[in-house]
Amino acid sequence: DFSWKLADHPKLPKGKTVAVVVLDGWGEAEPDQYNCIHVAQTPTMDSLKKGAPERWRLVRAHGTAVGLPTEDDMGNSEVGHNALGAGRIFAQGAKLVDLALASGKLFEGEGFKYIKECFDKGTLHLIGLLSDGGVHSRLDQLQLLLKGCSENGAKRIRVHILTDGRDVLDGSSVGFVETLENDLAKLREKGIDAQIASGGGRMYVTMDRYENDWGVVKRGWDAQVLGEAPHKFRSAVEAVKKLREAPKANDQYLPPFVIVDESGKAVGPIVDGDAVVTINFRADRMVMIAKALEYADFDKFDRVRFPKIRYAGMLQYDGELKLPSRYLVSPPEIDRTSGEYLVHNGIRTFACSETVKFGHVTFFWNGNRSGYFNPSMEEYVEIPSDSGITFNVQPKMKALEIAEKVRDAILSRKFDQVRVNLPNGDMVGHTGDIEATVVGCKAADEAVKIILDAIEQVGGIYVVTADHGNAEDMVKRNKTGQPQLDKAGKIQILTSHTLQPVPIAIGGPGLASGVRFRKDVPDGGLANVAATVMNLHGFEAPTDYEPTLVEVVDN
Ligand code: 3PG
Ligand code: CO
Repeated sequence: DFSWKLADHPKLPKGKTVAVVVLDGWGEAEPDQYNCIHVAQTPTMDSLKKGAPERWRLVRAHGTAVGLPTEDDMGNSEVGHNALGAGRIFAQGAKLVDLALASGKLFEGEGFKYIKECFDKGTLHLIGLLSDGGVHSRLDQLQLLLKGCSENGAKRIRVHILTDGRDVLDGSSVGFVETLENDLAKLREKGIDAQIASGGGRMYVTMDRYENDWGVVKRGWDAQVLGEAPHKFRSAVEAVKKLREAPKANDQYLPPFVIVDESGKAVGPIVDGDAVVTINFRADRMVMIAKALEYADFDKFDRVRFPKIRYAGMLQYDGELKLPSRYLVSPPEIDRTSGEYLVHNGIRTFACSETVKFGHVTFFWNGNRSGYFNPSMEEYVEIPSDSGITFNVQPKMKALEIAEKVRDAILSRKFDQVRVNLPNGDMVGHTGDIEATVVGCKAADEAVKIILDAIEQVGGIYVVTADHGNAEDMVKRNKTGQPQLDKAGKIQILTSHTLQPVPIAIGGPGLASGVRFRKDVPDGGLANVAATVMNLHGFEAPTDYEPTLVEVVDN
């Protein structure tokens, strides 16, 4: 007797425009010189904090609160937006892969059986991010996969690595490649022909997202499939060390390289009869390569050769597109998201960000589902991101353009919910450029102001929050919280996300005067936001949603 119909909230009215603003990578931390949000002028966010504790609080945005395996797992945009949109905590890809590997179920599943067919005559290629960041992939999962594949008959294995430096410290790539080389050497001792075949930095090779720049995927294709790259090395450790010597080189942006044998021939192009697995569990940065590997009809770049392979993703990356059609682990089934409920209950919805975060407030928000629930009720607007640059060069990004689009959507009164992601804290934070991140945070704060002013004009309600931390802490710290120094006595810049909680603020002229944050959900996390937003639209949330953060007191 399932019904999409939401019960009316006993105290809160309908018909208010609700702006849901997500500041990407905007956590709360001690004020110091590495806290870019503190250093930046952020008068709008500061003024919201003054509403504490009635209308400003912190929520958890990492670890088990967002479905990650442990409390040591930093938050990320996928799990953060999933939680914000779904209102419940789902075991996420990282956890599901852990479980499937630990139980051995991964090696008994349909996906694995499918690729295993090639083990006799073909090569098994593993492509993915090489680090222990736990955002897109994890080294220990790759290690278990290598072990399981070799035990299940893989005789020839080629690994195509993507170096990280974004979810982990820059420079850590060398150690990860050494570890992998070690593992592959052990496999070779057992008679398995296993080697690294190609590589490149994740932001320059393969792992683009939301079709920002197909050139990134093409560079990967050329190296992985065609065995062609501007740089050729005999070993991957040598490759990474040498390429890092170039001025300004970093792990995120290493150029593509292939490993060659003594005659100069690439050791591992992908050819007919091979099996390919993309080892990342996270979807956004795998969708494009999955299309290139799977679609017979494909016009995003010239593939030159389209080998007849058996391909499986670690997970299925897009449930709507059923992409890829084969996968080793079933993704979380994130159903009945708040977006879908609200559209069924007459809430006209507008969502907006720039390209690099567009899928966050649409695809991730809607439970890793692409497209509209009901096109006549929804409008999703993507502002094109600058491509081919690192965002420390343009730290303001498209914050102003996004804010103006959102303002216009609010003022048009055509929408009941206006949802937005402001990327600066995160995207500039990932560059590790502190000064630029400060500029980015200020720009994001100004964008919030534009949106809140529009809400003021229409008598609406705002919810301002974030998906995880990043810009509030830009330095690697030791156990006592002090900046950790490297051998040369220098601080180590933290390009990654953090374990910090994030703020949530509510307000606006449409917010009934008795609405305030409850005190009885002290551990509230991002998953509690969906019920909160439903309440502000005048609805009760479904009973299996995480509890709302707000209560209405009579005054
Ligand atoms: C990325 O993909 O850019 C990072 O690994 C994680 O960043 P996001 O979770 O903020 O997108
Ligand atoms: Co990020």
